[in-house]
Amino acid sequence: MSNELKSFLEGLDGLAQDCESRKGQACSLKELEELRIEFLGRKGKLASLMGRLGKLDNADKPAGGKKANEVKQAITALIDSWEGDLNAAESGKALSLFDPTMPGRKPWAGSLHPVTLVMEEICSALVGLGFDHVSGPEVENDWHNFEALNIPPEHPARDMQDTLYVSDNIVLRTHTSGMQIRSMLKQEPPLAVIAPGKVYRRDSDLTHTPMFHQIEGLLVDRNVSMGDLRGTLTAFVRKIFGAGTDVRFRPSFFPFTEPSAEVDISCVMCGGKGEAGGSTCRVCKGTGWVEILGCGMVDPNVFKAVGYDPEQYTGFAFGLGIERVAMLKYGIGDLRMFFENDVRFLEQFA
Ligand code: PHE
Repeated sequence: MSNELKSFLEGLDGLAQDCESRKGQACSLKELEELRIEFLGRKGKLASLMGRLGKLDNADKPAGGKKANEVKQAITALIDSWEGDLNAAESGKALSLFDPTMPGRKPWAGSLHPVTLVMEEICSALVGLGFDHVSGPEVENDWHNFEALNIPPEHPARDMQDTLYVSDNIVLRTHTSGMQIRSMLKQEPPLAVIAPGKVYRRDSDLTHTPMFHQIEGLLVDRNVSMGDLRGTLTAFVRKIFGAGTDVRFRPSFFPFTEPSAEVDISCVMCGGKGEAGGSTCRVCKGTGWVEILGCGMVDPNVFKAVGYDPEQYTGFAFGLGIERVAMLKYGIGDLRMFFENDVRFLEQFA
C-alpha cells in the first residue's frame, strides 16, 4: 500500500473518531446542524479530505473511495442518531412541564339569571293555563299607568307607589298593570293575557330595589267570577310551589280591582307550621303564611276607560313580584343578591 493511500485512510479513520468524540456536545438541534455542516458540509472536514482522493494513484483510488464512502455513512448515521436523541429529549422536556394526572380546569359556562328562570317558569305555567304572553313599554304615560286604572290625579293611591317621573306626564311604569289597559284597547273580549317585565319605584332598602320584575295577569269574558280567579291562582301556585301548597285570600284594596285581595300561600319554608326545628320560621315569622300576590275583579271604571261594557263583561286581574317568588322558591334571604352579579351566587342556578 502506498504511503499516500495509507495516510488518506488514516485521515478518514481520524475523522470518524473525531466525530464520535463529539457525542453529547450538541445540546440543541441547531448546534447539531452546525456539527453536521462542520463534518459533512460542502466546505466541511470530509470534503477537504476528499480533495486528496483525486491525487492518489489510479490503483489506490478504489480502496480510498470505498473507505471514504464508509466513513461518510458512519458519520451520517451517528449524527442522525444524535438528532433522534435530541428530539426525544425535547418532547420529554415539554412533557415534564405539566402533570398529566392533574385534574383539568372546569370551563366556565354561562347560566340563566334566577329572575329569568323564575320568570320563564311562571310564564310557561300561565301559558299552560291558556294565557297569551304580551309585552309593552317601560316608559309609560300617566294615563296607562294611573288614570285609566281608576287612579285619578291627587288620588291617595299614587302615594302607595313612589313614582319615578320622566316628565309631568311620563313615568317609568310603577307596575305592569298598565298592560291591562294596553291589551284591552287592542282586543275585544274574551281575552286572557300575561305581561311580564321590569317596573320602577323610588325605593331602595333591604327589601326594595328601584327596579324589579312583575308579571300581570288579566282575564275578561262573560260571567267570570271570583271563583274563577281563585281556581286559576290555586292551580298556578301549586304548579310553581308544589301540589301541597295551600292558598288563602285576604281582603285588600287596589283602585283598579273591586273586590280586591292579597293572596298568601302556606309557607314554603316550614310547610305552614310556623316553626322549623323548634324555632320560629324566619320566612313566615311564625304565621305559617307568606304573601305572594295582589289580585281582584276588574273595576267597572277600568272597563269604561277602555270602552268595554261593564254590564256584559267581568274579569279578574293579578300581579306578582318575580323576585319575591324567586326568594321563596330558592330560599334567598336578601333581595340585593339578584342585582350584585356575584358569580358565586349566580353559578348556583346553572
Ligand atoms: N299592580 C299591583 C301592584 O303593583 C298588583 C295588582 C295587579 C293588584 C293586578 C291587583 C290586580 O301592587
